[in-house]
Amino acid sequence: MRKKLFFGRVKSRILTDLQKKNSSIFLKTRKIKNSLFRKHKIVIEIGFGHGEHLVYLSKKFTKKIIIGIDPFQNGLAKVAKYCIQNNIKNLYIFPYVFEKFHKKYQNYIYDDLYILFPDPWPKKRHQKRRLFDENFLRLISKKGRKNSKIFFKTDNYNYYDQVYNIANEFKKRELIRDFYHNLNTKIKTKYHQKAIKNESKIYSLIIENN
Ligand SMILES: C[S@@+](CC[C@H](N)C(=O)[O-])C[C@H]1O[C@@H](n2cnc3c(N)ncnc32)[C@H](O)[C@@H]1O
Repeated sequence: MRKKLFFGRVKSRILTDLQKKNSSIFLKTRKIKNSLFRKHKIVIEIGFGHGEHLVYLSKKFTKKIIIGIDPFQNGLAKVAKYCIQNNIKNLYIFPYVFEKFHKKYQNYIYDDLYILFPDPWPKKRHQKRRLFDENFLRLISKKGRKNSKIFFKTDNYNYYDQVYNIANEFKKRELIRDFYHNLNTKIKTKYHQKAIKNESKIYSLIIENN
């Protein structure tokens, strides 16, 4: 039996015809090709949600290619609209789960990879649904260029602890640093804002490929 890869929602609100049209134009004119990975520095964000941080990356790193991976269609619609209106050319979207991206682009490589506030699945029986597990780190650590970095942020201590411990197992190849509250705090994604509203502590990790 195939493992279920996604447990979230692909839509929150119904998309208007204009939103659907923007998304479809954006995806058609911005195909991710294997040659991108050979020619450019690559920044990937997995689970970009509404795209606040993804758009920020595209403006901050105009010379790099920014790739967002998330099946959430409302997020795609927002990012597509923004890119069309602002003539943003360095941002690409893969509108499915990460596992599909990993399979499809076998030669992909990244310089930086962001995972911000992934679904925490706090109940013990659901924790195996978490994106970041041992297998995930094994897969992505082979794809990072030398000195590449993985940025991880959550307000769920148990998830943070899990990722910290998994990364620690890889310590011969990676250096782990702990940051509290000081990772790109300028941009607050929807779930970052929720965490602040709930007065939750935010945990950040940077895993460096050295
Ligand atoms: C809790 S939201 C966080 C969104 C955003 N990063 C933020 O901080 O507001 C988690 C996001 O991860 C996406 N997601 C969940 N599993 C995924 C997977 N396997 N691959 C890519 N995206 C995934 C969901 O669709 C959702 O948009």
